[in-house]
Amino acid sequence: MTKSMLERYREEREQVELGGGVKRTEKQHAQGKLTARERIAYLLDEGSFIELNAFVKHRCTNFGMESKQAPGEGVVTGYGTIDGRLIYVFAQDFTVFGGSLGEMHAKRIVNIQELAMKMGAPLIGLNDSGGARIQEGVDALSGYGEIFYNNTIASGVIPQISVIMGPCAGGAVYSPALTDFIFMVDRSSKMFITGPQVIKTVTGETVSAEELGGAMSHNEKSGVAHFIANSDEETLDQVKRLLSYLPSNHTEKPPCTDGFSINQFHPKLNEQMPENPNKPYDVKTIIETVADHDSFMEVQPYFAKNIVTGFVRIGGMVAGVVANQPKHLAGTLDIDASDKAARFIRFCDAFQIPLVTFIDVPGFLPGVQQEYGGIIRHGAKLLYAYSEATVPKISVIMRKAYGGSYVAMSSKSLGADLVLAWPNAEIAVMGPAGAANIIFRKEIEAADHPGTVRQEKVELYRETVANPYVAAQRGMVDDIIEPQYTRQRLISALDMLETKREKLPAKKHGNCPL
Ligand code: HXC
Repeated sequence: MTKSMLERYREEREQVELGGGVKRTEKQHAQGKLTARERIAYLLDEGSFIELNAFVKHRCTNFGMESKQAPGEGVVTGYGTIDGRLIYVFAQDFTVFGGSLGEMHAKRIVNIQELAMKMGAPLIGLNDSGGARIQEGVDALSGYGEIFYNNTIASGVIPQISVIMGPCAGGAVYSPALTDFIFMVDRSSKMFITGPQVIKTVTGETVSAEELGGAMSHNEKSGVAHFIANSDEETLDQVKRLLSYLPSNHTEKPPCTDGFSINQFHPKLNEQMPENPNKPYDVKTIIETVADHDSFMEVQPYFAKNIVTGFVRIGGMVAGVVANQPKHLAGTLDIDASDKAARFIRFCDAFQIPLVTFIDVPGFLPGVQQEYGGIIRHGAKLLYAYSEATVPKISVIMRKAYGGSYVAMSSKSLGADLVLAWPNAEIAVMGPAGAANIIFRKEIEAADHPGTVRQEKVELYRETVANPYVAAQRGMVDDIIEPQYTRQRLISALDMLETKREKLPAKKHGNCPL
């Protein structure tokens, strides 16, 4: 090899690695953002990143583009490891044409999407892009189409994680929306289909970019995003943590850890449950008590807070937790809670992650807005997701389980493998007070002391119907346990169900009520 060949090679590579140049890199840093290459270096195991297609070049000749260089085509792609496990990654480079996506930028992403699927390894996208490259027109749009197609085909095959690390507009938001989890960096990331200026022109509404598509808006209001963190580094740390719960693909089991005590009882749990069935408490304290220390990673903590979803380890085994949250909306199921839980359940089922459901639910949320908003079809997603899930399904009925919400929350009739109930569980068509008012209305109204009779009838209903023994007699509850032994029983159940094999009838695919 001649010296000039090597020199040319080194110059070309250096050019690519410089991205949009020093000035634009400084601007990126001044905004508190890392560059695409710095982000990849932070995310992956040290020295493990190998770049692919670094020498790709655009072919656009519109608007004088033939004379403009776009080093790396505005995206860095390749593979490496996180905690020693193979990962594919792309990071859009905002210093090159605002990370905008043209034909060849898309080709780089498509290449690693296809490698990730073939190799069965997770794909992480670090998004920082002004959307379709305006100069390119249909070539850019077609590039997006190919990426969306691959996102869809890869769904349920490998975990796909999107991290929004800058302004993502137009097409730049739909690829993330097709992936499993979206992380956003507070203040520096935005997602919208049409930005504030277009909205002002079309609808006359005035809204800031932050209000419209900022990290908190999507974590709290729209439910588009699942996680939020304060900086690029903190966000990437969270991505690494999430990966520690996930298998690399749908044929593998999630990674186990060891060193956790199995015979750990929690006598406090026996006292923790309020006697009054309507008194609120924080279900997260129960999840944290039962799970391995510090292992609870909540998913969508700010959205639909009346249901809690997240990953835990119990005795070192990974599980997906779904729990009603009595602290918010009394733990009722509404439209957003149904959507949130159903999507989480389907993710766990796709990736062999057992489901543990903690139940304390008074019912579906009544209201005109809920009915008009389609609580019927949204609630049906939850029924559908639990019914079609073939991973181990374990339920713990802690307190109330009334009506349709009892059925929806992973009941035996929807295929739960093991249903445990605490001694104070109330399983009934409705709460004892409401039930007594309806079926004993005439007797209560005719009584000299209606209050006393009402109370007697409430107790009678509770004694006759609203306790765990009736359900246990019919086999709808497999065992009644003291709360303090919950952890031990869950470990035993996860262990016992580890070899579960269940196949659904052959079909093209079901028709989940979307
Ligand atoms: C080409 C772009 C670009 C784009 C930004 N740039 N977006 N180049 N195509 N889509 C370039 C700018 O010209 C500038 O180049 C550099 O990137 C940085 O942009 P700034 O505007 O200086 O940055 P900032 O002020 O931070 O604003 C970022 C931004 C804004 C909010 C993203 O650039 C913007 O609104 N861009 C257009 C967004 C958009 O409408 N995209 C098309 C969406 S339609 P220089 O050379 O000055 O550094 C779409 C359709 C796909 O995506 C649909 C598929 C289904």
